[in-house]
Order: sequence, then structure tokens, then C-alpha cells
Amino acid sequence: MEREIRVGLCGCGVIGEGVVTVLREHADVIAARAGAPIKLTAVADKDPARLEIVRAQDPSIALLDDAFEIPKRDDVDIVVELIGGVELADRLVRAALDAKKHVVTANKALLAERGGALFALAEANGCDLYFEAAVAGAIPVIRVIRESLASDHIRSVRGIINGTSNYILSSMANEGAAFEDALKAAQEAGFAEADPTLDITGGDAGHKLAIIAGLAFGARVLPSEIPTEGIEQVDPRDIQYARNFGYVIRPLAVAERLRSGALDLRVHPALVPEGDPLAYVDGALNAVAIQGEMVGPSFLSGLGAGAGPTATSVAGDIIDIAKNSLAGAPVRTWHLPSEGDQKIQAIADLSSRYYLRFSVQDESGVLAALSGKLSDSGISIEKMVQDADSGDAGTASIAMLTHHAREGDVRDSLRAIDNTHLTTAPTHLIRIVE
Ligand code: HSE
Repeated sequence: MEREIRVGLCGCGVIGEGVVTVLREHADVIAARAGAPIKLTAVADKDPARLEIVRAQDPSIALLDDAFEIPKRDDVDIVVELIGGVELADRLVRAALDAKKHVVTANKALLAERGGALFALAEANGCDLYFEAAVAGAIPVIRVIRESLASDHIRSVRGIINGTSNYILSSMANEGAAFEDALKAAQEAGFAEADPTLDITGGDAGHKLAIIAGLAFGARVLPSEIPTEGIEQVDPRDIQYARNFGYVIRPLAVAERLRSGALDLRVHPALVPEGDPLAYVDGALNAVAIQGEMVGPSFLSGLGAGAGPTATSVAGDIIDIAKNSLAGAPVRTWHLPSEGDQKIQAIADLSSRYYLRFSVQDESGVLAALSGKLSDSGISIEKMVQDADSGDAGTASIAMLTHHAREGDVRDSLRAIDNTHLTTAPTHLIRIVE
């Protein structure tokens, strides 16, 4: 072995600590596969307690309270950015690339917002910028789309790409857990973002989907352009009704090239048929179903969050960069050429089946009036069930599945219905994905 590849770690939270552990405990196999020993030389974090944990593992590692010192060091070849957020992380990655250091990041928000400029900077500086851990933790979805399926036209990518929201919905469905308790458990397990709002509102999945759309379709999409809904609106009653109809509710992200050439991109909870492979993806597991013109369907599943899985993806990138460096061949561009129209379909133009739950007055004629109004808007009911509300005398819930309809028409119809005396609360809508 000719030389050592030296790593500087910025940010030593849940994932950073996992990286320290993986690099130490798997040092032999990593050295064998990289072709040289990988040595963690410096770690930076604002929290002294986190640095103490590193010191206890290996006193030879330099410990710093300022991440911006890491790119300046001569004993660092690869900078690992795990500080999160966008602005500071952007400055840090730029500083590393300007200092001709290769970069590994797990920062999906950063790449979704600023990826184009950062990859151009990496290329200009002759540096690698790797990011497998940014999407779906341990699942190698970036490499599969970028490398294994690079010759194919990807038709669609559908998946569960936020472990925290999948964990919450699974706990609610399987154990009857309350939303807040399930969120707390996900935080304690190290699945959630520092700001878990990003998980439950769909923002984190939106960041990941923007990256996937870039890889799969060459699309330059900002997260703000992706129609996004979180799981907060999912009520235990919806989970129960969905089950009775033969569906489970999963937090989905969808990216599909439509026949028109436009892209259907969206993040939202969805009813998935019980027999669909995505219905079996439980807890913090993630899954990505890819449909390609030549390859047909592929299905990847694994842990999408947590220290071990995510740190393993980071370490895999470090090994890849080490091999590139040792071979004298860094810089592999990540983006594929654009495949035509970048137009994103407006959510109002989506054609889908829907689950609807109405809260109504339990009076004669209400059901007839409701179905009449839906029918007037061209929305046809496939299945329906009505229950008297246990806690609220005089009110009832009507849950139904519709046939395919244009979302804009469904929303207009629900708005009109909710403006009448027929409903006692806003109607819940969840899309069906099959
Ligand atoms: N908070 C993220 C999740 C971590 O729950 O999926 C992995 O990106």
C-alpha cells in the first residue's frame, strides 16, 4: 500500500459518530477494499461532549470546535460534511472544494438547493463530490440510477424515502401509537432530522426527490417546485378505513415521466394496495421502486435512516473516492443530460383515484346530497362506508374511494361541499397510488 487517505469529519452528531465507529471498527476491510488505509485525522463539532466521545475512541484524532478549520488542514484529503442545513454547509463545501479537497456529504437539503453549482465547482477544481448517504440511507439508490441503470430511460421512481414518517405511520397502524409518541421514539432512535418538521411535513422527502429527479431525468428541479404534503393530516380513522378497504397508508415520493414529456413529481401520504411491495416496507425502512424502459421494474429496500446504515453509505463514498484518488482519476459528474421537457405537471392536473373522508350531520338526505354533488363534478364513487361517530352524537363519517378523476375537479367539488351545511369539518383527501 502506497499511502494513507486522510479524512476530516465536520459534524459529529448521530451520523458523524457512526462514521467514526465504522472507520475504526471496519478499518481492515475498508483498507483492503480502498487499496490504502483510511485514517480519520480530524473531527470538528461545536459540542465538546461529542468530541470527548471521539477522544475516548482514538486520542490521536485532532479535535476542533470550528468545522471551517478542517478544509485548511494539510492532513486531510477528504472532507466529510455532516453539519446539515444549507447556508453554512454550502460555505463549508465550497471552502473544501476551493482547497482541492474531495467531499462526501449526506446533506440532501444542500444538494437539492445548490447541487448544480457545487458539482460545477467540484469539477472545476478536479475534486469528487459524493453523496450516496443523502438519499435513502443504506440503500444505494444514487449508484443504481447513476451507474447501473445509466443506459436506460427511467420511466418512474416511486418510494418511501423518509424513515421517520414511515416509522410514525407504521407505529400508528401497527401499535395504535399516538403521532407525538411515535415521533418522539423516532427522534430517540436517531432517525429524525435535527428539525423533525422537515420529516413530517414532507420537506426532507422533497429534497431527496429533487435529487432523484436530477439523476433519473436530468431535471433541474428545486424542492419548492415539488407539490408536497406531510403526514400530519393522517388521522387514525384514515388508517382504519384504509385497512378496511384493503390499503395501507405510506409516506410516498413519486417521480414519473409522463407521455406528454412533463414530470409528475409529488410527495404525500398515499393509500397503497395491501399486496404492493411498498405496503410491506415498515418502520424506518425505506424502499425505492424504479421502472426503466429496458430493465423493467427494480425494487430496492433497506434502512433509510439511523447511524449505522447512513454511516456505511458515507464510508462507501470515502472508499470510492480513495480508489479514484489512488488511481489518479477523480471527478465523476453526477448529473445526466436532460431528457426533454422540464415542465412539472400541476397537481390540479393529476389523474388519480382518491380516498375521501367526510364528517357529516347524521341526517337523512345527506348521503344522497353528497354523492349528487360529487357526481355533478364528474367524480364517480367506487366504494363507500358510513359510520356514526362514537364521540359526537348526531354526526357521522363517510369514507369512500373514487374512480379516477382530475384532482382540480375533486378539490373544487370538496371546496363547494365544505361550504355547505352538509359537512361539519373539512373533508380529508388522500391520493391512492397503485
Ligand atoms: N430524517 C431522515 C429520515 C434521515 O427520517 O429519513 C435520513 O435521511
